[in-house]
Amino acid sequence: MTPRVAASALRVPHSRIRELAEIAMSMDGVLKLYFGESNLPTPEFIKRAAQKAMADGYTFYTENAGLPSLRKALTRYYQELHGVELDPAGEFVITASGVQALNLAIRCVLDPGDEALLLTPAWPNGAANVAMANAVAVEIAQPLAGDRYQIDLAALEAAVTPRTRMLLYTSPSNPLGWVATVEEQRRLLEFARRHNLWLIADEVYERLNYTGPRTASPTPTILRLATRDDAVIVIQSFSKAYCMTGWRLGWLVARRDLVARATQLNEFVVSHAPSFGQRAAETALLWGENTLCEMLVRLKDNRDFCLAALSKMPGVTVPKPDGAFYLFPKIAGASDSFDFCKRLLMDTKVGLAPGVAF
Ligand SMILES: Cc1ncc(COP(=O)(O)O)c(C=O)c1O
Repeated sequence: MTPRVAASALRVPHSRIRELAEIAMSMDGVLKLYFGESNLPTPEFIKRAAQKAMADGYTFYTENAGLPSLRKALTRYYQELHGVELDPAGEFVITASGVQALNLAIRCVLDPGDEALLLTPAWPNGAANVAMANAVAVEIAQPLAGDRYQIDLAALEAAVTPRTRMLLYTSPSNPLGWVATVEEQRRLLEFARRHNLWLIADEVYERLNYTGPRTASPTPTILRLATRDDAVIVIQSFSKAYCMTGWRLGWLVARRDLVARATQLNEFVVSHAPSFGQRAAETALLWGENTLCEMLVRLKDNRDFCLAALSKMPGVTVPKPDGAFYLFPKIAGASDSFDFCKRLLMDTKVGLAPGVAF
């Protein structure tokens, strides 16, 4: 007899994006489109800020909730960008990535056996984190009507049980590129309030928006509609807007009691995000708008180029995404997306994320 891995750990599904990526990483010359990152490196001024932070002594432990100066910088960010007032001392936790924010949030709202509603197709880490909390993910599909994805409120209503504790949605969406309208956010919030659920909004693609009046107009945050007493949690990240995927830096915003508990739990997970990275993140927030605008022009061109190329291909249909940097095409006759992506990788060295992963 030998000790076994816990059954609850074995129940956590593996990521089929990673599965494809592992194959691709063993090959040379692959066009890597499977992960949610562009090929742009972190801007120089942010890298320099991290070097300076190290030289200035930001190499020690910080507060579990993150550096107060970064939380203040985020407070300014929400004021200026969204007109939302937040308390840097009680409504933020800086995390070591968006996915760690998701992990903390889900850990704080679910007990074993609870149920979580998830709008899908979605990045698989939400459902996997629900499984890591020994809870049950209930997927509610977003139907496509014309060329826009919708929220199926009737299906959400029908899925609520006495064990339902939360609803997770992602806007802008990975992989759909769907951006929730203010009216849709209002309905989700009303639904969550009526059923006494936590509403978790994954807003990591907030800045990758192609529909605003200006190039870098953010998508509306749920924090504009919710009060500070609402059971709302926003998941955020420095990864996408500032090309900082490898840094592992994010944050969450939530009601004070949730933030207090998430801060405490953070001690036992990673204690806090890396100190010098947090310091550099302040610089990203302060000086990042110009590079963000430049990147968005490029991302929009890329989106339009890929849309035009795909729409010329027979059997391929693809709605136009309003945000994020993904296309989610349907390919007539392809019934196994993993097999399709694997063959594409082997034959052409183009690495895509298989739709089944979502
Ligand atoms: C929807 C969504 N949320 C969160 C994340 C997490 O980003 P990170 O952990 O790099 O901050 C990603 C990354 O791809 C994502 O697609």
